Amino acid sequence: MEAFDQLLAQAPARIDLAGDLDALATLEAELVGKKSLIAETRRGLGRLPAEERPVVGARVHEVLRSLQELLDHRRSVLERVAEDRLLEQDRVDVSLGGYEPSIGMHHILTQTVDEVVDIFTGLGYRVASGPEVELAWYNFDALNTPPTHPSRLESDTLYVEYGDPSDEMLLRTHTSPMQARYMEQNDPPVYVVVPGRTFRADALDPTHSPVFYQIEGLAVDENITFGDLKGTLAHFAREFFGSERKIRLMPHFFPFTEPSAEMHMSCYACDGSGCRVCSGSGWIELIGCGMVDPNVLDAVGYDSSKLSGFAFGMGAERMAMVRHGINHIKHFYENDIRVLRQFT
Ligand code: DAH
Repeated sequence: MEAFDQLLAQAPARIDLAGDLDALATLEAELVGKKSLIAETRRGLGRLPAEERPVVGARVHEVLRSLQELLDHRRSVLERVAEDRLLEQDRVDVSLGGYEPSIGMHHILTQTVDEVVDIFTGLGYRVASGPEVELAWYNFDALNTPPTHPSRLESDTLYVEYGDPSDEMLLRTHTSPMQARYMEQNDPPVYVVVPGRTFRADALDPTHSPVFYQIEGLAVDENITFGDLKGTLAHFAREFFGSERKIRLMPHFFPFTEPSAEMHMSCYACDGSGCRVCSGSGWIELIGCGMVDPNVLDAVGYDSSKLSGFAFGMGAERMAMVRHGINHIKHFYENDIRVLRQFT
């Protein structure tokens, strides 16, 4: 009986000391398990004198219940602690800012080409594309460019095959060869724009790159006049650069157009009064153009006595540079994401 009293007196402090569920289980085995004082006493009850049995039996029962109660209470406390720890470990901080997935976008050059093309498809033009590796015949001869023309030199043109003029192959220096290819494969009337990559033996400087993009335009029909060319380019300038823009056509020379012209647009920065953007002239040189030379029509089998047409060719980089104030062509090709993101 004394041992039970001692056991009961020490139990609460010992149980409270059990720091986790494992320690508690060990203690529980010691206090109420098979080898505990309580279990042994129970097993020995039969050997006690008959009159002591109920007294000891009742005491054993009482002690067991008290111990079990203390143990159960401690277990529930420790279980809660364990659960809290688990929850804390798995905690998700829903207030934390997430990662925004970065959404792709079209490159500024692609956007520019698409927009230019859209303006012309809006006028009923078709869109075509052609080979980047081109025969000299389409790049030069069919476009009325004589064999002696300086642009055919290796210092200007990147050749794949050079030497025998009849099978010379090159990286096209402009999108104009598609004028001839398109007319060969399509009957008049023709209204087509041709965007594409072009190549020249140029070193990189603020306005030149060995690779660049052009957008070619060609209209061939009956009674096409220089006025149609001017009206079409004026429409383009207003659509692409703003409704205030005016254009003028200055005499120029291209082998495949006669007359040839260079389209100038009134400066968007000073509206024509002269500023740094337009080098004080009030005008910005933008597009090469002209009336299709009858020799070009004849070269593809079109009847130049019945048909006439105009053509133009613009640099896509130049359009984007003028429109967005980009000061170096390299920005289109370095693909610095910080630059490209400015054109979303
Ligand atoms: N192909 C010319 C160039 O790359 C641009 C050009 C001028 C295209 C006049 C034309 C045109 O269609 O009519 O410089």
